[in-house]
Amino acid sequence: MEAKQTSIMQKEIFEEPSVIKNLIERYITPEGEINIALPEKISNIVIVASGSSYNCAAIASPLVIEYANIPCDCEYSSEFVLQKKHFVTSDSLYIFVSQSGETSDTLNAIKAIKSVDDGHVKTMCITNAKDSTMWNLCDYKILSDAGEEKSIASTKALSAQIFCSILIILKILSQNGEDISGMVNTMRRLPAYLERIIMDGDKIKKAAQTVSQYENISILGNKNYYPVAKEGALKMKETCYLNVMAYPFGEFMHGHVAVLNQTSIVIAIIDEENAAFAQRNLEKIRKNYNPKIVCITSVQDIKAGDINIYIKTKRKTKAIFGSLLTLQLIACTMAGILDKNPDSPKGLTKVVKD
Ligand code: AGP
Repeated sequence: MEAKQTSIMQKEIFEEPSVIKNLIERYITPEGEINIALPEKISNIVIVASGSSYNCAAIASPLVIEYANIPCDCEYSSEFVLQKKHFVTSDSLYIFVSQSGETSDTLNAIKAIKSVDDGHVKTMCITNAKDSTMWNLCDYKILSDAGEEKSIASTKALSAQIFCSILIILKILSQNGEDISGMVNTMRRLPAYLERIIMDGDKIKKAAQTVSQYENISILGNKNYYPVAKEGALKMKETCYLNVMAYPFGEFMHGHVAVLNQTSIVIAIIDEENAAFAQRNLEKIRKNYNPKIVCITSVQDIKAGDINIYIKTKRKTKAIFGSLLTLQLIACTMAGILDKNPDSPKGLTKVVKD
């Protein structure tokens, strides 16, 4: 089945497999080496950004800790600039993520860290805009090279940023002498995986039709999938003007769950790691509140939802991109169903400046 395109946002979502393919060609050599520059020694990483780019930071941070074995925090740019103290060592790396390279909050955050320690802090940016202010301010830089992103709701640029964050992890591992061939192969298979999700659009359409009938929408995910859930909520807010909330799955059960009733819908992101836990909690949720449930799951036999969207893979890195893409498509399709134009959300601009 050929996926039919209806808006610029959808066109940009459909471009994601080719954006990733391009990044693989650009940054991974045929021998599997990672072609980016990084400081040789990194003791800890702090990733700073706003909006969708912050969600990239929050997705990447636990991946850096888990795979590269390095302490990694993430912060909202606007909060970072309000912090009275920043603790840095000579081997700390501050990474700033921005599609535009011109967001004021993130530029101010770079200036704030550069004023610490006589400007010796190492800075890096991941940006889609070569020669932007951010590009010129940072010591190390990666072009996320997603092509121009016109839609105000960021989609392909975010996937490109997450891919670049994974390149940083791979580079750190290879600098430490570790074998990265398995992860590189997983990344090489990513475009075909995303292509399959786009082509299998019927379930996504069905989910969008169902979700768009509700105004009380909660999206649940654990660890890296919590910021994926937040990104799904952000996309629905920007394109459908709905007050969608995202929660970490376990935390949701500590009181937040009380917002549910038969007029609510829950979207749950489920992978191998949280499958048993998520199913147990969804059973409780169904028993106590009986909301509609949509599962986006990389595990084939999960049937906990009224609608179950399978994005089958055993690899967490792939499932992150797959669940993100699925939520982007649901949000974009919902906007169409609700007769909103996702390409020009009211009151929003592509670059947020002072
Ligand atoms: C995302 O859909 C938004 N339009 C917005 O949150 C955006 O990600 C944020 O303003 C940051 O922009 P940047 O990546 O250009 O810095």
